[in-house]
Amino acid sequence: MGHSLRAAALLAFVVLSILVSLLISSVQQFGGRISHLTNATRAGHEESASLRGALIYQLNERRREIVPLLLLHGGDGDDDAGGLPGESRLSAQHGQPPDPISDSSVWNEIAHGSRAARLDEMGCDSLVDMQAVEVLGSGYTKLVVKVNLAGGQPVALKLVNEKGIDMSKCVEDFKDPHGCRELVSYKLKKELVLLQRLQHPNVIKLKGHCAGEAEKGRLTVILEQGAPLQMIQLLQSPWEDRFRVCLDLVRLLHFLSRSPLGSVALLDFQPRQFVTVSGSLKLTDLDDASAAETPCQTDADCGLQFPHRNFSLPCSSRGVCEDLGEKRNIYNAYRYFFTYLLPHQAPPGLTHLVDHIMNSTGELKADINETVEAFERILHLYRSGLHLDNLPPSVFTDYTVMPGTGASGSVDYRCWPSYSQQGCVLSVHSAREAAFICSSHPQCSSFTLTGQKTWTGRLLASFRSSSAQLVPDEASEVYVKKTERPAV
Ligand SMILES: Nc1ncnc2c1ncn2[C@@H]1O[C@H](COP(=O)(O)OP(=O)(O)O)[C@@H](O)[C@H]1O
Ligand SMILES: [Mg+2]
Repeated sequence: MGHSLRAAALLAFVVLSILVSLLISSVQQFGGRISHLTNATRAGHEESASLRGALIYQLNERRREIVPLLLLHGGDGDDDAGGLPGESRLSAQHGQPPDPISDSSVWNEIAHGSRAARLDEMGCDSLVDMQAVEVLGSGYTKLVVKVNLAGGQPVALKLVNEKGIDMSKCVEDFKDPHGCRELVSYKLKKELVLLQRLQHPNVIKLKGHCAGEAEKGRLTVILEQGAPLQMIQLLQSPWEDRFRVCLDLVRLLHFLSRSPLGSVALLDFQPRQFVTVSGSLKLTDLDDASAAETPCQTDADCGLQFPHRNFSLPCSSRGVCEDLGEKRNIYNAYRYFFTYLLPHQAPPGLTHLVDHIMNSTGELKADINETVEAFERILHLYRSGLHLDNLPPSVFTDYTVMPGTGASGSVDYRCWPSYSQQGCVLSVHSAREAAFICSSHPQCSSFTLTGQKTWTGRLLASFRSSSAQLVPDEASEVYVKKTERPAV
């Protein structure tokens, strides 16, 4: 009995020690797991804090870029006071001390300012009951939608492109969609400020904007509607229209070289940053425009690099690269626009002037003043017909004029580049030039001047073969080659 009692006590002791040791080891394991988890959470927190810090840094950089543009406007003293309460969700949360530059009261006018309100009148109210028609275009940063406002007015709305490269890259880097929308929207804000400051016939017209109070980064810019620039289509259009695009561009660059913000360089210069409105060229993408000067010590600091060409500009006594932005704009205009649009089919009397422009801009020998003068001279000669001085006078006498008549008939012979797909319609300075053209086309036996004009004021002439029928038309006159007279 005593024996069995001792055995039972021993067994109980063994079981108990096993249980205790099991308990200890599981507690140890549990503790280990807890400490492992705590380390992981701490690392996660540290990572997200550092991402947040990096994003805040970026946000502040973007604001720093915009504020000088606001201040540069010469301050007409009617800015809204009020600083930046909660302007940046992230920096406010982070509890950073106010930045002396970005805390400027003038900042507020981006969203609510009195000056802005005077310049672009439409606000959020204008967008009530609008109808979205289609997407007009999109880029790395922005999405542009064609809409009809409640009153029927067509406009283009610019927003942050949620699916654009800028947004997706930011979310990949910072893992914060809200913060990223705020960051990307700074580009749109900068564009808004530049559109307010840089008003010109060749800059897209700002009609208004709507900045959502509650959600940062929800900015909608309201613009006049244009048509995205179609280079391929332009290449097939008459020289006069291609010249117009180049002239508009040069007038824009002339304005930018001495704008209210100083000399402005377009850092992302591509045809897709422009649209046309009734045939005239307008810059629409301004977020990469820069009014900053490039500091230098020697000429070697003032290099301009392009894929096939490098230039070196002088470093001025002020320690900045002389006219760097202006020259950069001119060479980009040459390489993206002039080379494709200007020389091809230029009127014979103007080719020497066109060649001169090609040379002086392609070699950066002329500044923007000289370039704009050269373009305006071509326009003057072309409009006035002075470039036609050496047309043979005899050609014109070969035609009989029939006032009060027009030509009718189905599709006639075609020429290239014609203003009409249906026949041969070209612009001329006068009946004399039209007679000269008709004589140089083997099929041509008559031409009609309808009184319609191109943007330069030149006349549209319709050239026809002998199959044309004459009909009464008060507004036009037909010129028929004396040798062949069509049936009336
Ligand atoms: N006012 C407008 N009317 C018509 N199309 C426009 C207008 N503004 C921009 N677009 C089109 O939308 C595209 C994207 O706009 P853009 O400002 O260039 O954005 P991102 O900065 O992303 O490149 C342009 O390439 C252009 O084709
Ligand atoms: Mg663009």
